[in-house]
Amino acid sequence: MKKVKSSEITPERIYKNRRKFVQNLGLAAGSMFIGQNFINLAQASSNSIEQEITEYRYITTYNNYYEFGTKKSDPVENSQNFKTKPWNITIDGEVEKPLKLSVDELKNMFPIEERIYKLRCVEGWSMVIPWLGFPLYKLLDKVSPTSKGKFVKFISVLDPEQMPGQRYPILDWPYKEGLRIDEAMHPLTILVTGLYGKELPNQNGSPLRLIVPWKYGFKSAKAIVNIKLVDKMPTSSWMKASPNEYGFYSNVNPRVDHPRWSQASERVIGGGIISPRIPTTMFNGYGDEVSHLYKNMDLKKYF
Ligand code: MTE
Repeated sequence: MKKVKSSEITPERIYKNRRKFVQNLGLAAGSMFIGQNFINLAQASSNSIEQEITEYRYITTYNNYYEFGTKKSDPVENSQNFKTKPWNITIDGEVEKPLKLSVDELKNMFPIEERIYKLRCVEGWSMVIPWLGFPLYKLLDKVSPTSKGKFVKFISVLDPEQMPGQRYPILDWPYKEGLRIDEAMHPLTILVTGLYGKELPNQNGSPLRLIVPWKYGFKSAKAIVNIKLVDKMPTSSWMKASPNEYGFYSNVNPRVDHPRWSQASERVIGGGIISPRIPTTMFNGYGDEVSHLYKNMDLKKYF
């Protein structure tokens, strides 16, 4: 084991086949330290598709974060003075042991891992991002969900003074998202505190956001203040805005088109001047890990 500074784990590496990466997590991977915490690094495997990690400058300047505006360049331009300290988060609802704690306390509770996941936006583009965070199930285990805790609702911060977009009824503020409890407990689902070995930039959802790698990017709520276990399927802000276009499940699915465009392929952000398109894969490439969650479900109906 070798000690490294976080700045040393940021070069644009190549990684091979996300599925293999996930299988290797914590096994053959070389473990490194960031502060007191572990980072798992991918062990590249053979016979796999190569995809480059997106450059930091694209990940942090081409964003969707409607609280700060609807243009891709708005979040980086309008979020730099957004105050993320202090920040408290409450985990409550259908749980035996509700928790209220600061993000700093949360970061010290669990080892922080690196997870290289592709973010596939419902708009038809994607990036490969080296996230830092920890699996959500570890936090949910601490609060002991009751048998009524069948869904998990994620609520982002409401702060129209600091978030100009919230002064307009673009979405049902605060931003809300939801997962079924088994999706939330899946080991691929993470709460994110950083990227590229650094603190999470404001425009990417600082200080705490969700990432569910087999679902479209909008499921991954930014700037979360409340995680609530509930017994009924929550209505997300996007479902409320346009129920025909954005369903509760929103699994990446090249066979189910968005009513206004195809989902069969995606544009690789930062992939060169011509921005190549590549085929979109079922569950964003995580079918082996997650398809059992949707056994016997008609994914055209439950889109
Ligand atoms: N979370 C909040 N609170 N507000 C938003 O507008 N946009 C979503 C998601 N989380 C959004 C959000 C969408 S549409 C996408 S594609 C991703 O964040 C984008 O994440 P990124 O900017 O870090 O790439």
